[in-house]
Amino acid sequence: MSARFPVVRPRRLRRTPALRRLVAETRVRPEDLILPMFVKEGIGEPNPVSSMPGVVQHTRDSLRAAAKEAAEAGVGGLMLFGIPEFKDERGSAADDPGGIVQQALRDLTTDLGDDIVLMADLCLDEYTSHGHCGLLTPTGEVDNDATLERYAAIAVAQAAAGVQVVGPSGMMDGQVGAIRAALDRAGYTDVAILAYAVKYASAFYGPFREAAEGAPRFGDRTGYQQDPANVRESLREVELDIAEGADMVMVKPGLAYLDVVAKVAEQVRVPVSAYQVSGEYAMVEAAAERGWVDRERAILETLTAFRRAGAGQILTYWATEAARMLR
Ligand code: PBG
Repeated sequence: MSARFPVVRPRRLRRTPALRRLVAETRVRPEDLILPMFVKEGIGEPNPVSSMPGVVQHTRDSLRAAAKEAAEAGVGGLMLFGIPEFKDERGSAADDPGGIVQQALRDLTTDLGDDIVLMADLCLDEYTSHGHCGLLTPTGEVDNDATLERYAAIAVAQAAAGVQVVGPSGMMDGQVGAIRAALDRAGYTDVAILAYAVKYASAFYGPFREAAEGAPRFGDRTGYQQDPANVRESLREVELDIAEGADMVMVKPGLAYLDVVAKVAEQVRVPVSAYQVSGEYAMVEAAAERGWVDRERAILETLTAFRRAGAGQILTYWATEAARMLR
């Protein structure tokens, strides 16, 4: 064998940090990140979420402070989830002008204006006494079309409170079209829709159900969320949502579905977001607590993987911390 072999040496470009930075194909920027936040009505102190170390259910005041920190760190957007004091069958608090998310949206609009994009999750599971994402029929099925009217009312209430982007996450058929029509009718033509277009029925939402207090009281969500076995179905969901007026589409969960992110990003011309969900967060935090993975490296590696797969925006509970690391 010749002494000059091999001629091609990929390691040449990996030799120094500067070389590696120069040839990096993917970058994560603070403004790519969206921070999901929980705000709960009627509590005096922020309430830690035990299965998500570092995440809390905010009071209105603590939400304002944390939102300001996120904006200062350069985070691109906030996604609000509300937990009402009282729940009922219809989730009445969701579209109450005095409801917790509407109050929080007004607070944050006052504090932050256009400095950060204000988004709100649009669903009913946190608001209904039964914990399902829609209204129920007398036999306990989720009633798709009756639910659409509720979603339309929530969208208008959030828009009136200052939301810039609504994020419908309930996986009802026709939800994007119904919300678009309602927003337009009410004069909110500039409010955008980030559709949770692809949402699998996933075990990785486990910790979220504690954080948002939205676990179904009976049954599960497999009748409306997608089967993890499918990917062509996801492309169909995305096409439908774009046809109905989605401005951006999301794939959720993230890490176990990066193939789906990649396929969707190839197929569509709207921004594609991915949601690094509560269970993904909890897995890394739990392993890091035991010293089994390097926490910061694992966080940045997963975020990079989302971008490499084709996600433009990443919803992550680490958004503020990661934004600081990336600066
Ligand atoms: C439903 C909703 C869920 C999540 C976001 N929106 C839970 C579910 O569908 O059961 C999960 C987010 C996460 O796990 O971080 N409103």
